Amino acid sequence: MNILVTGGLGYIGSHVVVCLVENGYDVIILDNLSNSDISVLSKLEKITNRKLNFKEIDLGIEDHVKDFFKKNTNIEGIIHFAALKSVGESVRKPNKYFQNNLNATINILKYMPEKVPFVFSSSCTVYGSAMKQPINESTPHGIAESPYGKTKQLCEKLINKKFFESKNFKGISLRYFNPIGAHQSGLIGENPKNIPENLMPYLTQVVGGRRKVLTIFGDDYDTKDGTCIRDYIHIMDLAEAHIKAIDYLINIKVTKFLEFLNIGTGIGVSVLELVKTFEKSTGLKVNYSIGKRRPGDIEKAYAQTNKAKQILGWKPKYTLTNALKSAWNWEKKSLI
Ligand code: NAD
Ligand code: UD1
Repeated sequence: MNILVTGGLGYIGSHVVVCLVENGYDVIILDNLSNSDISVLSKLEKITNRKLNFKEIDLGIEDHVKDFFKKNTNIEGIIHFAALKSVGESVRKPNKYFQNNLNATINILKYMPEKVPFVFSSSCTVYGSAMKQPINESTPHGIAESPYGKTKQLCEKLINKKFFESKNFKGISLRYFNPIGAHQSGLIGENPKNIPENLMPYLTQVVGGRRKVLTIFGDDYDTKDGTCIRDYIHIMDLAEAHIKAIDYLINIKVTKFLEFLNIGTGIGVSVLELVKTFEKSTGLKVNYSIGKRRPGDIEKAYAQTNKAKQILGWKPKYTLTNALKSAWNWEKKSLI
């Protein structure tokens, strides 16, 4: 079956492409390379031992998306990753984020064929600063912490609208917590074009010598050691959740379906715990210092994960140590 993967050369998309191929799917990758490099394609071909179908398209341009679906009538599933994801940049350039993330999603939803299963990359950011932990899916959208977060909320609303207006819409919005780590080959991983804003790539780049020091944003939160708590999920577990979601939508007998599912481990880990676990599992020192709180950061966010387990039969297999070792393996290989 042919699965369209938008943003398929990015961090999460590339890992999902590997899993799709391993599970017998054919893939068509669309990406405009705004936050990825074309070299990822050959790495994916090396891992999967397969020539892959890639088209460089900006999904924000309506005519390009229309034309793509006109010429490609064989799409049997869509996983929509393509979006800009830097929280800090979204605060500085909100219009860029609204335009890119919303237009790409509107265009896909508008021109995708009826009945084709649709999986959307959402984020725990839709919950805003949720008071109750672990966060379950009935927690309503909170106040968006950033324009990026707002785009995820609005895209979920667009999907909801499509569901109510169309006769045949089957979709799942996966709300990721904090994906980290890399494929075991060390050939693909998280490699943002600019200075990383996320903890994991920043930490590994410090250890690898590309950056000097990791600043831990605040140690005066109301948590076990004062640093923020997150739910870090191994990228390969996250990738598997997409396979389960697309399989589920393809096989489900009903014509209409929409679910919003948390994808996390359910375990809250503090920033300091993550740093210490990294040091223990790799035997390497992390040069860090404690800095000020980062504006917009939330104190705690970890998932309640029963719903994904019940509906998809998915649960994470990897530990934090596995994820941290794989992240370091990727950084090490990219230094060679
Ligand atoms: P990424 O930046 O590595 O990948 C996104 C890909 O989409 C990039 O290759 C980029 O070039 C492409 N893209 C962006 N806009 C496009 C457009 N208009 N047309 C075509 N391609 C476009 O990011 P990622 O970490 O792989 O994230 C994938 C998705 O998951 C995003 O929607 C992101 O918001 C969401 N998400 C990520 C995280 C995370 O921590 N990484 C957490 C929650 C949700
Ligand atoms: C952020 C976004 C989330 C988005 C995700 C992917 C918020 C509130 N959440 O998640 O919506 O989907 O990025 O882009 O903005 N940290 C440091 N030092 C660093 C970097 C991070 O101490 O140099 C800390 C942060 O304060 C946080 C934790 O590490 O406590 C994780 O941060 P990060 O990786 O940026 O992810 P989130 O902020 O959870």
